[in-house]
Amino acid sequence: MYSDLVMDHFRNPRNVGKIEDADGVGNVGNPVCGDVMQMMIKVKEDRIEDIKFQTMGCGAAIATSSISTEMVIGKTLDEARELSNKAVAEALGGLPPAKMHCSNLAADAIHLALDDYQSRHKK
Ligand code: FES
Repeated sequence: MYSDLVMDHFRNPRNVGKIEDADGVGNVGNPVCGDVMQMMIKVKEDRIEDIKFQTMGCGAAIATSSISTEMVIGKTLDEARELSNKAVAEALGGLPPAKMHCSNLAADAIHLALDDYQSRHKK
């Protein structure tokens, strides 16, 4: 049902944890199932220097959180903003149709963390 890549990221999620002094934080909840995800970013010279996540959710939500952090780490803020939910699901080799809603959290949480960073740094 799940691709090997989904299973790998579910079993060995990358960048799980907290950044205590995060520069931006994004929280999202999935209205379909009630699962929640938090993304924390550290920004240096307009790039995502570090990113960590905490997800209370299903395997697909954990796998999408994990791979999305790998997709944006080291990227500029503008590049990270271009990440879409669809791109995250595709990077995992697709998700079963019933689990597609689970892929809606990761990019949204990253975008909210970017918004939070930008609102904190508004002049
Ligand atoms: Fe809730 Fe997958 S069932 S995110």
